[in-house]
Amino acid sequence: MTVPNFVKAKSEGRKLTMLTAYDFTWAGLLDAAGIDSILVGDSLGNVIQGHSTTLPVTLDEIIYHAKCVMRAVRQALVIVDMPFLSFQVSPSQAVENAGRILKETGAAAVKLEGGVNQAQTIAALTAADIPTMAHVGLRPQSIHRYGGMKIQRDKQGLLADARAAQEAGAFSVLLELVPRDFAAQITRELTVPTIGIGAGPECDGQVLVSYDMLGLTDGFHPKFVKHFADLRAEATRATQQYIAEVRSGAFPDNAHSHR
Ligand code: KIV
Repeated sequence: MTVPNFVKAKSEGRKLTMLTAYDFTWAGLLDAAGIDSILVGDSLGNVIQGHSTTLPVTLDEIIYHAKCVMRAVRQALVIVDMPFLSFQVSPSQAVENAGRILKETGAAAVKLEGGVNQAQTIAALTAADIPTMAHVGLRPQSIHRYGGMKIQRDKQGLLADARAAQEAGAFSVLLELVPRDFAAQITRELTVPTIGIGAGPECDGQVLVSYDMLGLTDGFHPKFVKHFADLRAEATRATQQYIAEVRSGAFPDNAHSHR
């Protein structure tokens, strides 16, 4: 999947699929399953590092995870999140840091949180041939301004953000936690694909944090997350069986021992 093919999916009426991955094993599994795009999201701050926000994630950390992902991926478009304060200082800071991401990881695109407020930066990245996805609606890096993960209901503000991002050159716009009808209107207005998370079915594609949709995360059940599996229960069961078999001597048995 290339950036132009990703964009073309909209005019061809093909729904785009995207999930997050942060390591070699999961990225290889998602890629082999046929996912269109893998996001090395700064949600790794939550699900890998155990922070309560994404703010602590550093540029070096996201580059490390993107390198692990890239070693596994054969076909999916890999998009890498720009962490908090890796792009907000100035457009030139953003170009330098996004350039590092592309050069050091081999990924094809970056994502940054912002619309109107980051239009200049999106334009600078686009001018430097760094394909950029804009993330509007709920922006987790702005959590302290919102005071929590709240549904974004400023329709005019959302429209302005999405339009500004597209005009600045964003190849796609991610919409997080916005009412379904707003997302539908934005999707109709934009020529580039919208990717929704908590934004309803009319978006051109969908993304979820893979750990959430696989049922690995504990105690995080927002309305928009569907558990397509319950891997936490299965992994817990397997771990408990391992413990019991080691303690009883049932493992390793002859079949798992060398002569
Ligand atoms: O960091 C992330 O995983 C995201 C989600 C919205 C998919 O940006």
